[in-house]
Amino acid sequence: MMGSTAGRAELRTRREVVSFVRRSNRMRPNQRRAWVAYRDRFVLDVPRLDTTTSIDPAAAIDLTEVFGRDADLIVEIGPGAGESLVPMAAARPQANVLALEVYQPAIARMLSGLARTGTDNVRIVEADAVAAMEYLVAAGSVDEIWLFFPDPWHKARHHKRRLLTPEFAALAATRLRPGGIWRIATDWGDYAERIRAVLDSDSLFASLYPNDWAPRWDARPITHFEQRGLDAGRQIFDLAYRRVG
Ligand SMILES: C[S@@+](CC[C@H](N)C(=O)[O-])C[C@H]1O[C@@H](n2cnc3c(N)ncnc32)[C@H](O)[C@@H]1O
Repeated sequence: MMGSTAGRAELRTRREVVSFVRRSNRMRPNQRRAWVAYRDRFVLDVPRLDTTTSIDPAAAIDLTEVFGRDADLIVEIGPGAGESLVPMAAARPQANVLALEVYQPAIARMLSGLARTGTDNVRIVEADAVAAMEYLVAAGSVDEIWLFFPDPWHKARHHKRRLLTPEFAALAATRLRPGGIWRIATDWGDYAERIRAVLDSDSLFASLYPNDWAPRWDARPITHFEQRGLDAGRQIFDLAYRRVG
């Protein structure tokens, strides 16, 4: 973990450009009710550095203790309202599922879904996934990472905001255990090409489908974001990579 003053300054500089915009966290009444009722059960209290989506590099959270058991760990990055996360976690009661999401009203909707379905193997961190992966998730501890329909930032001048960069891929590689899998889906062809180029050029990853797209992962329910892409006539691209070594 990077606890030094120099390290913190470096983090701040590195994350000046983030993959999300600050939106109002104002909630509708039903979201507020879910937040009040279930926040303490599912959302982890994490020490912050300087913003509400930051993580203190000195944070020391033992995820085994948080989940109350040692089990396979799945991390979903940017699950939004949990349209895929809730049913997929419910279908994997043997796994611990960590959700990293910045947008509070979406988390509130995810809380409703978890409570409604009685899904108890999920814990949520309200934070930038880059900081959370770096400071909360131990090296070599993750069995699967899911990243479905990350914000595409499709204008060229916004590409620097895309989450999946070579630096983030290198970080994710250290968090996955050898043999761990990263599953990704996007409805933006140029982002899919870019992700493939980044992961193909990282020697710690091997594609499960070299020189091809992965078949659509049928465990993944169609979310509102995927449906929007389909309705607009866009192709859906799935990618699946294994951590080598
Ligand atoms: C386009 S939505 C997709 C939601 C969901 N995966 C789905 O398929 O329905 C992208 C989500 O990623 C979240 N997000 C973007 N950047 C993030 C980051 N750096 N850390 C955590 N969440 C992030 C956004 O708040 C949003 O909820």
